[in-house]
Amino acid sequence: FIPPAESNAGGAIIAKDKLGNPIPASQILAEPAGTRALIAGLAGEPTYLTVKQDGTLENVGIVDNCTHLGCTFPWNEIDQQFQCPCHGSRYSADGSVLRGPAPLPLKIVHVAVKDNSIWISPWTEIDPRTGETPWWV
Ligand code: FES
Repeated sequence: FIPPAESNAGGAIIAKDKLGNPIPASQILAEPAGTRALIAGLAGEPTYLTVKQDGTLENVGIVDNCTHLGCTFPWNEIDQQFQCPCHGSRYSADGSVLRGPAPLPLKIVHVAVKDNSIWISPWTEIDPRTGETPWWV
């Protein structure tokens, strides 16, 4: 048995829980479609993963760090928005700003499932929401 590596050359890391234990994809995929599950991602950043309607994981993760002043925020299932409790910013499901004071869309990361491990890697290409170089690159 060879334990899977926990990082690779492309800067990818394995998603973990708060205690630092790897989270198997099957654990998150056992949740209902539409679930936003928080994991510890790149540099330990709390990151939302989405269970899609087809029972797979969305390949884009949303970093739980408000672009206003850095609060963490919950997903509001009814409004289908991320809503920051600190000063009222709202974001759509893809992390675009719906209402300020947040000045920028939420940071996104790549999500990939391989052998029941969830790999998170940096998003350095064009931000599909703005068509521009990401503000965090
Ligand atoms: Fe989120 Fe201010 S930190 S709205």
